[in-house]
Amino acid sequence: DKGGHKHFMSKEIAEQPSVLTNALGYYIKNGKIELPDPGLDFTKIERLTMVACGTAYYACLVAKYWFEQVARLPVEIDVASEFRYREPPITKGTAALFVSQSGETADTLAALRYCEGKADKIISVVNVPESSIARESDLPLPILAGTEIGVASTKAFTCQLTVLAILAIKAAQDRGHMDAKQVAEALEQVKSVPGIMNHALALGERTKAVSRNLAEARDILFLGRGPMYALAHEGALKLKEISYIHAEAYASGELKHGPIALVDEHVPVIVMAPRDALFDKTISNMQEVMARGGKVLLITDEQGAKEAGPGVWDTILMPEVDPFVAPIVYAIPAQLLAYHTAVSKGTDVDQPRNLAKSVTVE
Ligand code: F6R
Repeated sequence: DKGGHKHFMSKEIAEQPSVLTNALGYYIKNGKIELPDPGLDFTKIERLTMVACGTAYYACLVAKYWFEQVARLPVEIDVASEFRYREPPITKGTAALFVSQSGETADTLAALRYCEGKADKIISVVNVPESSIARESDLPLPILAGTEIGVASTKAFTCQLTVLAILAIKAAQDRGHMDAKQVAEALEQVKSVPGIMNHALALGERTKAVSRNLAEARDILFLGRGPMYALAHEGALKLKEISYIHAEAYASGELKHGPIALVDEHVPVIVMAPRDALFDKTISNMQEVMARGGKVLLITDEQGAKEAGPGVWDTILMPEVDPFVAPIVYAIPAQLLAYHTAVSKGTDVDQPRNLAKSVTVE
């Protein structure tokens, strides 16, 4: 049942504030973080290894910034297909964390099995509680997104991020990098996400208009710094999956090390830049693109748009959001742009060619 939507993907995009609220209610009780048994004590963990595929991997990439920043916990991330054959040494004090919507992805499951008996703890962040990955982990953490039907993952991504954000706060608390007051404040930020997301979802018409222009492009670049680098990847993946437009993500600072050679008036460059500590850096990279005739679509908030100055091709004005949770909210324009561009091109949004919802063979 598409609930009045034209596609499951659009229904699942719209559902995000409500499924996120479920996840928040499950993990935050009376202002405190509650994990299911057997719990998790980050004081005993010295290192976190996170492994996943595709969109779930980009959730890991965001989480790496969170864990390192707020919990000062060293994090290694890898895509499952590389991790499993790399056979990395797993040293004492390592927790291994696997993120998977389906819980059945062959490479992710193989990576988990590789860590069995080597890692101190095997944690999974999954949507399907009875899946192989959930069953084979010491601590399966459900994301409570409900069934995701669209092949392109949307609500699972933001629910994965929400659970990982809460876990990063828990790690910060256990490791003494946040006191009770700071934990309460951080949890309030996470709890504010569904409400702010509703404002971002109201940008549907705006992104639809922009997407009509994007649909003409053959190549599109996405740029971001910090956690927005991960969102740039997610935006590019979503766009290529369902609209078949070639899209690439780069860390803004990497631009001048090669990809800037691609920039001309035919390549839209989507810059994801909330007004945060890295904003000025990203904007200076954006100006380098504009100086070479590149068409910039800037996704930022009001203050960011003001400071970025004139000359951008188009702007998507996002609601103001705390930098810690901004990656969860900025998933919305990434999803909406891909969705409307695909609709505009007339591709099969829910069943893109060559793709399967669950990749159970390597
Ligand atoms: C992208 C997408 C895929 C999956 C990947 C992992 O929209 O859906 O990249 O994220 O195949 O799948 P799970 O999360 O089921 O392990």
